[in-house]
Amino acid sequence: MQVDPGLEGVIAAETVLSEVDGQAGRLTIRGHLLEELAGHCSFEAVLQILLDGLLELPGSEAALQADLARARAQVFALLPPDRDSCRRLPPIEVLRAWIAQLPDGDDYPTALQLLAAPAVFTAAILRIRAGDEPVAPEPCLRHAADFLRMLRNAPASDYEAAALDSYLVTVADHGLNASTFTARVVASTRAGLTSAVIAALSALKGPLHGGAPGPVLDMLDAIGQPERARLWIEAALQRNERLMGFGHRIYRVRDPRADALRAALRALATSCAHSDNTVSSGQSKSRALSERLALAESVEREALRILHRDKPQRALDTNVEFYTALLLEALGVPREAFTCMFAVGRVGGWIAHAREQLRCGRLIRPQSRYIGPAPAPAAA
Ligand code: ACO
Repeated sequence: MQVDPGLEGVIAAETVLSEVDGQAGRLTIRGHLLEELAGHCSFEAVLQILLDGLLELPGSEAALQADLARARAQVFALLPPDRDSCRRLPPIEVLRAWIAQLPDGDDYPTALQLLAAPAVFTAAILRIRAGDEPVAPEPCLRHAADFLRMLRNAPASDYEAAALDSYLVTVADHGLNASTFTARVVASTRAGLTSAVIAALSALKGPLHGGAPGPVLDMLDAIGQPERARLWIEAALQRNERLMGFGHRIYRVRDPRADALRAALRALATSCAHSDNTVSSGQSKSRALSERLALAESVEREALRILHRDKPQRALDTNVEFYTALLLEALGVPREAFTCMFAVGRVGGWIAHAREQLRCGRLIRPQSRYIGPAPAPAAA
């Protein structure tokens, strides 16, 4: 039997949830192309699509929105009193610990709390780290708008909420990526949805998966000016470093999520510039965002040119994390919490896949080939 250490050639599940076409650069979510969803519907609408038939959902998106808002309030009431860990540990580690205190189960109420928790806890963790009090959720708001309000203790503009909605929709599901596979493995043991989500979050944390967007901003800051990009990138590759925000296990062309997020960023910059009520601050915010976007686009062009030149055998292109970094930065999310934000959206996919795996009913249990020493012969 051939061993495939990265499981590239292995089909480990059948799913109705999403298809990643790496050759065409296409992401399909339950029959909808990503471009039909991102920028056109809310996170709640995508949850309705993903979870349909897998949980006892209410009949409408509005009812799901109300249930999710109630779950945010329940989860907020469970904020642990210990604030010290928020200041000592990275946000993703605090988030993991706080989600771990939620009860396990497989039903709709458990799923709702898990869908709510990453947003409520991340906003609270960031406020505590900044020396502020956590802000309670607001039942009338959608998930994206309420996250921004809980983070800032002030309402977000409609266009900022729309930009975050686009992000959450874009990252909600993506085939059998490392964290989703982890969720399915845990679900297959019937450990419960909370266990599956904590395990998935742990897989997401790694820099090769959901930990990349923070370092994307570090790279842009280190480069600073477009004309410095070539030297910086060549030096990084000389040191055998990987460029964060580029490359993908499945995509051999551009990740379609990068384009969805770049479109959301451009829309955000335009709306910011046209904002009526705070014309002067809106214009300077918009100018700063346009300059950041221009730097990012020229770094991206240079990185792709050098990667194609130096690694012609590998079709490396921009992935989702590159524009994630810019969008979340523009919304005022600190870079230390970017992986938590990924979890705010991806938790929808994890729960859908965990439920689908439970339906299949088969324990996931592959085999390994033993290459260690043979046992010593028993003494006579
Ligand atoms: N920068 C430089 N070189 C790269 C990069 C990169 N970003 N990505 C791949 N390569 C090179 C590898 O060094 C390797 O080269 P070699 O054969 O000369 O040693 C070759 O390309 C391997 O390519 P793949 O098989 O396509 O890469 P793999 O599947 O092992 O890794 C991964 C995919 C982990 C995403 C990788 O591209 C990477 O580390 N990217 C940077 C981190 C990142 O952006 N992660 C987010 C991914 S999206 C997500 O998970 C949400």
